[in-house]
Amino acid sequence: MTKVGILISGRGSNMAALLDAMARGEVPARCALVVSNVPLAAGLQAAASRGVPTAVVDHRASASREEHDAKLLEALSAAGVEILCLAGYMRLLSPAFVRAFENRLLNIHPALLPAFPGLHAQKRALDRGVRFSGCTVHLVDEECDHGPIVLQAAVPVLPGDTEETISARILRCEHKLYPAALKLLCEGKVRVAGGRAELLLSPQEYLPLLRGLMDMGENG
Ligand code: GRF
Repeated sequence: MTKVGILISGRGSNMAALLDAMARGEVPARCALVVSNVPLAAGLQAAASRGVPTAVVDHRASASREEHDAKLLEALSAAGVEILCLAGYMRLLSPAFVRAFENRLLNIHPALLPAFPGLHAQKRALDRGVRFSGCTVHLVDEECDHGPIVLQAAVPVLPGDTEETISARILRCEHKLYPAALKLLCEGKVRVAGGRAELLLSPQEYLPLLRGLMDMGENG
């Protein structure tokens, strides 16, 4: 089974969704290591309570991003991590680190990329008056919130939505989308060419998947 690593910095609700999906056998993988750069991240406890090995690689202990990322890489390699998921990991990764996990590094972002990359994506989408926002799981390249898109799901914006309500609706969707994307990558069904990810699915598999994604965002 594929060995997955997860990087977090905070509460780790997406991490928990990934761990639970793996535990239920919905994703053919097991988590070899959760690493946080923040020693008190709540997600560390959530991982440990699920019996998953955890480590802290505190960025404040390194003089540079490169040094920090080299320590990260060492911990992940020692655990045999093959696919790495960023789940609320709040640091930019160095080019060398991204290259080491080329096409094996996933991130989830709370917007329909390429719209609204960066911080406060939900609020910025709301402020622009979009009718739909959503979430995107993508392979990571050297730019922030950028790289070949694996899966997306749209989430409606409803009258009276606030940053909190739309963020919560998107987050519920993230928890379903991320395991679905990780499953595809673990199964070798994602092929990258020309900066785009192609899903190696038959029409009989692809159309139901797309319909599922359309249902995922909820109606309210
Ligand atoms: C999520 O909204 C994710 O899309 C973004 O950071 C947030 C992390 O939340 N990258 P959690 O730590 O997974 O609960």
